[in-house]
Amino acid sequence: MQIVLTGATGRLGAYVREPLARTGSEVVAWGGAGDVDLEDPAAIARELDRADADAVLHLAAISDAETCRREPERARRINVEAVSSIAAWCRAKGRRLVFTSTDMVFDGGKPWASEADEPRPILAYGATKRAAELEALQAADAAVVRVALMYGPTRCGRETFYDKAVANLRAGSVQTFFDDEFRTPLDYATAAKAIVALVVSDFRGVVHLGGRERVSRFEMMKRVARGLGLDESLVRSNSRADAVFAEPRPADVSMDTSRLAALLPSLDRAPIEEAVRAMERPSVG
Ligand SMILES: NC(=O)c1ccc[n+]([C@@H]2O[C@H](COP(=O)([O-])OP(=O)(O)OC[C@H]3O[C@@H](n4cnc5c(N)ncnc54)[C@H](OP(=O)(O)O)[C@@H]3O)[C@@H](O)[C@H]2O)c1
Repeated sequence: MQIVLTGATGRLGAYVREPLARTGSEVVAWGGAGDVDLEDPAAIARELDRADADAVLHLAAISDAETCRREPERARRINVEAVSSIAAWCRAKGRRLVFTSTDMVFDGGKPWASEADEPRPILAYGATKRAAELEALQAADAAVVRVALMYGPTRCGRETFYDKAVANLRAGSVQTFFDDEFRTPLDYATAAKAIVALVVSDFRGVVHLGGRERVSRFEMMKRVARGLGLDESLVRSNSRADAVFAEPRPADVSMDTSRLAALLPSLDRAPIEEAVRAMERPSVG
């Protein structure tokens, strides 16, 4: 099988490359805009024709909510129109498309959202990703994987919120996180494995990919500290009410992942403490 991987230079892309290679597939990795610019539909079509792959795993996006808010037109071109171009190519050629969306397509009003719940994004970022989901599903053989918040050390050199927080905890400084905003986070390594398993599966439709537990970022970071043997008392809590946001943020985008569990019954989603220990070991993929 030959697979085009977009966003290969991103945080998730760096984790996906190893399990993807292990499937024995030939991978055509697209890096950033300097490689194949997603703002250029002609370049997308030309490079897809050139690769002529069996499947496209489309990870590339503007994944930063604040950039999407500040640059809505660019966000639309990259996060929506590029997906439309890729989906049109896959549909025309009868190829598979796997697209990564986000828990931020929900408004945060209902815990444990399932695939049957109607997405109602309130962030500009979430709105682009929801529009993109509908584009992706235009490809006949399409899977939309709604990914929860991911955590773990960077493998691409681009810092994650986790890297920053862990570095500060190691340096002994107090870190504050919301205790009233909820997610079902999953570590990068497990998320990458699951996405690759979905690429080589025949699943079509929408599936939620997240951890088993609904936690606040405060609880998550306490457990990260515990897992890494760092001083948990440095992890303190605050409230959303203590902060000012440029956009209203969804309060609870925890996702029900029972469809994922049925599709990938052998996927081991370890508790946060174990997952961080495994990812900090250099050889784990
Ligand atoms: N991180 C999370 O917790 C999370 C949670 C839910 C869903 N997701 C979704 O997962 C996917 C991957 O996220 P990530 O965290 O890996 O994002 P990331 O680290 O920000 O990486 C984004 C990737 O997209 C590429 N890209 C951006 N603009 C481009 C353009 N104009 N042309 C070509 N490539 C471009 C970037 O290339 P450069 O190297 O040039 O920047 C990079 O490879 C995204 O679809 C995101 O919405 C992420």
